Amino acid sequence: MKNIDFEQFIGSFAFDTRLAEVDITGSIAHVEMLVKCKILKQTDGSKIIAGLNSILKSLKKDWTLPKEEDIHYAVEKELTRRIGAVGGKMHTARSRNDQVATDLRLYLRQETDNIIALINEFQTTIIKKSEENINVIMPGFTHLQPAQPVLAAHHLLAYAWMLERDKERLTDCRKRINVLPLGSAALAGTSFKIDRQYSAKLLGFDGVSENSLDGVSDRDFAVEFVFCLSTIALHLTRFCEEIILWMNPEFGYIKIADKFTSGSSIMPQKRNPDCAEVIRGKSGRIFGDLFALLTIVKSLPLAYNRDLQEDKPPVFDAVDNVKLCVEVINEMIVTLKFDKAKTLKSTEKGFMAATEIADYLARKDIPFREAHGVVKSIVEYCIKNSKTLSSLSLQEYNKFYPKKYPIFDDDIFKFIDLQNIVAKKTSEGGTSVNSVKKQISLLKNIVKRKQK
Ligand code: ARG
Repeated sequence: MKNIDFEQFIGSFAFDTRLAEVDITGSIAHVEMLVKCKILKQTDGSKIIAGLNSILKSLKKDWTLPKEEDIHYAVEKELTRRIGAVGGKMHTARSRNDQVATDLRLYLRQETDNIIALINEFQTTIIKKSEENINVIMPGFTHLQPAQPVLAAHHLLAYAWMLERDKERLTDCRKRINVLPLGSAALAGTSFKIDRQYSAKLLGFDGVSENSLDGVSDRDFAVEFVFCLSTIALHLTRFCEEIILWMNPEFGYIKIADKFTSGSSIMPQKRNPDCAEVIRGKSGRIFGDLFALLTIVKSLPLAYNRDLQEDKPPVFDAVDNVKLCVEVINEMIVTLKFDKAKTLKSTEKGFMAATEIADYLARKDIPFREAHGVVKSIVEYCIKNSKTLSSLSLQEYNKFYPKKYPIFDDDIFKFIDLQNIVAKKTSEGGTSVNSVKKQISLLKNIVKRKQK
């Protein structure tokens, strides 16, 4: 027989100690409520609260709680060690089932706010980078093929908007996190005359759960929270993928500081975009955390089941890694530099002005479908004769539309000028400098508001 520690196997102390502070916060409120409802004597309540505060103080000094089955038992045992048997009164009208659900909600509420603050910081960096690079033009892609020129700032700001939705999602999720299950007791509620609204008020919850069975067994808020984090991770993978592409010398659009890259042990010329790759890779474990959670809750009969204890490792893992990734990518983007000459040069490749020529003809009342065909022939001609759209002569242009009068005028060259193409995309949300500046001021307002 192997010497398996079954208590440790059943317990969660190995991974739930980070809940110590919120556990104590929850207990203090619970005890205050018990005193207010005259379930606990004022003197007992004061002793318990003083004991809990002294544990908090020790924890702040890097002292650690002795090992128990889980964090809830560990705090209670330590409390009775410090203040005697009266500590055992703390658990009146409560179960670890409603206690752990409360702890997790308090913890996630805090982390929701922390992550929103980190995203705000990252958005601020993106806005700053966009302002610094407001005149940088680069190729815009669809299907990863050259499509139309865009401002680098416009491209960067797309991520700021994704992140804005990430914050909105977290803010909305917070509403469902911020509901108090305490008072559900083990599963059925309690015969003590408790005041759950009072506990909720003390702990800053918006309301209380209305069904005790649901109160102790619901982990939707945790699933939803990790989904919100998965979406953040998803967005970061897209950004990192582009950083990796843009750093490739075939693109050569950007440089980031050396500390975010590493060399190869065999190929002396290499700078590998390791940080971006690691962030891209971490999405795998974060999505995994979401699936772990979904699977843990799946098919569980009401109410509490010990399976739910396994919710903590994936939730904590997702929190730690998303926070770290947002911090790393933020630092990385702070050091991002565009090679303006290189991005402009790339914009000249790939006939990115082709759509403009089609638009030019469409403005002259030629059906767009027909114009599209004409420009397709022009591009084919350019490829065959190693020419670019700007190096063609007016006569060459007009050969492609040999109707009664020459359809192309001198102004076609202004039409296909890259700066001009970008400058003309003045529609709301478009890539002209003015539209992008509008985006920036909108975002600045949003970020400022959220920081308050
Ligand atoms: N350690 C448990 C958890 O994390 C606490 C609740 C245990 N409750 C019980 N009745 N066994 O979920």
